[in-house]
Amino acid sequence: MRRLEGKVAVVTGGGGGIGSAVANRIVREGGKVVIADLFEDSARAAAGPLGEAALAVQFDASDPVSIEAMVTAAVDHFGGIDILHNNAAMTDPAKHPLDTTPVDIPIEIWDEIIDINLRGYLLGCKYAIPHMIARGGGSIINTASNSGIAGDLARVAYGASKGGIITLSKYVATQYGKQNIRCNSISPGVVLTPALEATVPGLKEVIQRHILTPEFGTPDDIAALIAFLASDESRYITGENISISGGGLSHQPHYADLLAMMEQQLS
Ligand SMILES: NC(=O)c1ccc[n+]([C@@H]2O[C@H](COP(=O)([O-])OP(=O)(O)OC[C@H]3O[C@@H](n4cnc5c(N)ncnc54)[C@H](O)[C@@H]3O)[C@@H](O)[C@H]2O)c1
Repeated sequence: MRRLEGKVAVVTGGGGGIGSAVANRIVREGGKVVIADLFEDSARAAAGPLGEAALAVQFDASDPVSIEAMVTAAVDHFGGIDILHNNAAMTDPAKHPLDTTPVDIPIEIWDEIIDINLRGYLLGCKYAIPHMIARGGGSIINTASNSGIAGDLARVAYGASKGGIITLSKYVATQYGKQNIRCNSISPGVVLTPALEATVPGLKEVIQRHILTPEFGTPDDIAALIAFLASDESRYITGENISISGGGLSHQPHYADLLAMMEQQLS
């Protein structure tokens, strides 16, 4: 399918597991893509195989000036912007364990996570929307998480940032819909990226009990959803949050325990 022929996309965090799969898919669908990441090396590694259809840009989602420069780079290089996939998130392994509970979280960790994950998405919208309007419209897809829909025992800042992304997306959809800008959020559950598999050993076994599908989701599954939401095939979908998590939040929390108990009784 070449549903994105002639379209220009910006993917933030494009050097990472999901972002690089999305960039790849956009180019396979006929689009051009700016792969923007904090780490220039990973942005370049993702852009290299895509040739002239991709441009690697270094940027920092915590820095408003650098976000504006990223959007300007897309417009200067490819002539405009039609698709924005806000996907970057704070990924510093030294800081993740500090994102705990309201009582224990250091306030500077809260601020840093909210700045990168939520304010960074707002700023992407702020600078991209005028260019989209100039082109007659566009599609913005913001990556939230199931952690923004349901609570968890840790990561209060991450969860709050993702919940904020879901609401931000509805506001953008409401305020710019008549200018032909659609905005949706997606909420992945666990998606097996190399980074995740390396940092959380044993994760697969635990999550397997809680998803409804036989297989785990991969970055390519996310990329397929992003390509659909970026394309005109989804022209009547805006302001929605779409969970993509193997049904991870579609059942009651005791499902896994109940299933294990029934299997034990039958054996
Ligand atoms: N993998 C999952 O299971 C999962 C589940 C739910 C939501 N998500 C969300 O999906 C998105 C992509 O996650 P991923 O699994 O591919 O992670 P990843 O760590 O592989 O990729 C994230 C990318 O963001 C970049 N980044 C980090 N801080 C940045 C900054 N300040 N400025 C610019 N770029 C920065 C990183 O360098 C990295 O390339 C994130 O928003 C994440 O919260 C992932």
